[in-house]
Amino acid sequence: MSGRRGTAGVADGGSATLRLLVGQDADDAGKLAAEVVLGAVRANPALVLGLATGSSPLPLYAALSASGVDFSRISGFALDEYLDLPDGHPQSYAEVIRTEVTEPLGLDPARVHVPDPHGRDHAAHAAAYDAAIAAAGGVDVQILGVGSNGHIGFNEPGSAFGSRTRVVPLAERTRRDNARFFASAEEVPTQCLTQGIATILEARHLLLVAHGGHKAEAVHRALRGPVTEDFPASVIQRHPQVTVVLDRSAASLLA
Ligand code: F6R
Repeated sequence: MSGRRGTAGVADGGSATLRLLVGQDADDAGKLAAEVVLGAVRANPALVLGLATGSSPLPLYAALSASGVDFSRISGFALDEYLDLPDGHPQSYAEVIRTEVTEPLGLDPARVHVPDPHGRDHAAHAAAYDAAIAAAGGVDVQILGVGSNGHIGFNEPGSAFGSRTRVVPLAERTRRDNARFFASAEEVPTQCLTQGIATILEARHLLLVAHGGHKAEAVHRALRGPVTEDFPASVIQRHPQVTVVLDRSAASLLA
């Protein structure tokens, strides 16, 4: 995949055309992804944005922050949050969203939502979270990363395509992958609250970002593999509006 921009037809089971943009490197891909978000913000300054955490969207958030655009009317809904971390832990996604997104982009903190892992009734909170997304008018642009095992949000392999926001156990591979954010592998939480796959699919536009050769296989399976709950990211092939933004390394297995 050498072109900076290209369009790929969906391989299997999809009814839509998926737009594929390829940057030279992670920063370049972040700028391309930012252009997608900025176009949506220009059309609707009160956009509802779905927010991923982790490494993949950081170049995108950096490019949005550098744009100088006014994001103060935007609402944000995070994809997921760990259970069992103390309130204010720097790796809690509430903190990551605050430091990587809300503050640098100048979002209104009152409009930024992260699943709350500290209540007693997670099922009720999860249902209320989905209801809050719906009450906000639904997510306009959902930023997604992909796990090396194909998870989106923390919908691990085997998650039902009809799943809603809920508590799930993290796969051992995910805990290993995310150990880099913690002092030791044991510190990585074992459970989280995640938007479900059906929740994610309700977003009007999915924007999946990935960079690095270690993501090439997951990207290939998500875009070109069979649509299966065993590889949750493959479900994006069924969504009518998807943009995938990669760097050359992450795109290296796409013909
Ligand atoms: C995080 C999330 C996850 C990550 C995925 C990739 O909010 O929903 O699906 O997007 O684990 O993580 P990175 O980008 O750190 O490789």
